[in-house]
Amino acid sequence: MGKLSVKHLIGIKDLKPEDINLILDTAQTFKEVINRPIKKVPSMRDVTVVNLFFENSTRTRLSFELAEKRLSADILNFTASSSSVSKGETLIDTVNNILAMKVDLVVMRHPKPGAALFLSQKVNSVIVNAGDGTHEHPTQALLDAFSIREKLGTLKGKKVVIVGDILHSRVALSNIYCLQKSGAEVMVCPATLIPKYIEQLGVKVETNLINALNWCDVANVLRIQLERQDIKYFPSLREYIMQYGITLDILKKLQKKIVIMHPGPINRGVEITTEVADSDQSIILDQVENGVAVRMAVLYLLAGQPVG
Ligand code: CP
Repeated sequence: MGKLSVKHLIGIKDLKPEDINLILDTAQTFKEVINRPIKKVPSMRDVTVVNLFFENSTRTRLSFELAEKRLSADILNFTASSSSVSKGETLIDTVNNILAMKVDLVVMRHPKPGAALFLSQKVNSVIVNAGDGTHEHPTQALLDAFSIREKLGTLKGKKVVIVGDILHSRVALSNIYCLQKSGAEVMVCPATLIPKYIEQLGVKVETNLINALNWCDVANVLRIQLERQDIKYFPSLREYIMQYGITLDILKKLQKKIVIMHPGPINRGVEITTEVADSDQSIILDQVENGVAVRMAVLYLLAGQPVG
């Protein structure tokens, strides 16, 4: 078995292309395992994992929990709102108290960018970033890459456009790093929700949705993250839908049949219509299915690394 070059999974920025390949290939093996009648393997027996969620989640949280169960790990689930964090306990104190109970690995979602890196520098445990504010969401990018590879056979030379709220999206940044390191070309659309210096990441920028969709093999559509917006970036939701909402009519008029992805949660009727989300071009539920195998691969590969 190969080894990762990192001890923690903080962001895709830290990974080498070989790390990404190793994770995707290991996930392929685990996908076969979880489609067998007996879905469980003993790979993480006697390893204890805590899932620390300081922010809401449906997919990531359940997917990590299922991945841990499929690997036979022992699991603790922690929700900030029902913990002593509400009494003023710090993040480091909280985690060190959990680690004192002989926990080996921490999966953490946190609203603050940099929280996962900070924790990895302050506590003696393996840290897996399950999304830190507007920074990175590495396992989402890995499951997206896995899903494109599964659908199109390879990532090399494929053209992927990320449509929507790039500015507030950790999924966008992790996807840009992951796709580029895997040999894909990346475009972002639209204009007012894009960070000022995005071109420095080597991505194309296209403000016209139809041009962007005609260019790509895959469109990864993001929702408008109103909870992270402190000012208005477009006049109204109605106008956003008119300019950037993806409809079946738009898909039918394109020069080729593209693949539609979305990390979820979807706002049906805003960035994507119900007909598009549920169409045969959409691989949204494949992404969710693949998330379990990809997270199994990440946990398995990191649990085999020494902490330090
Ligand atoms: N894609 C994603 O991170 O979804 P959740 O917020 O439900 O985990």
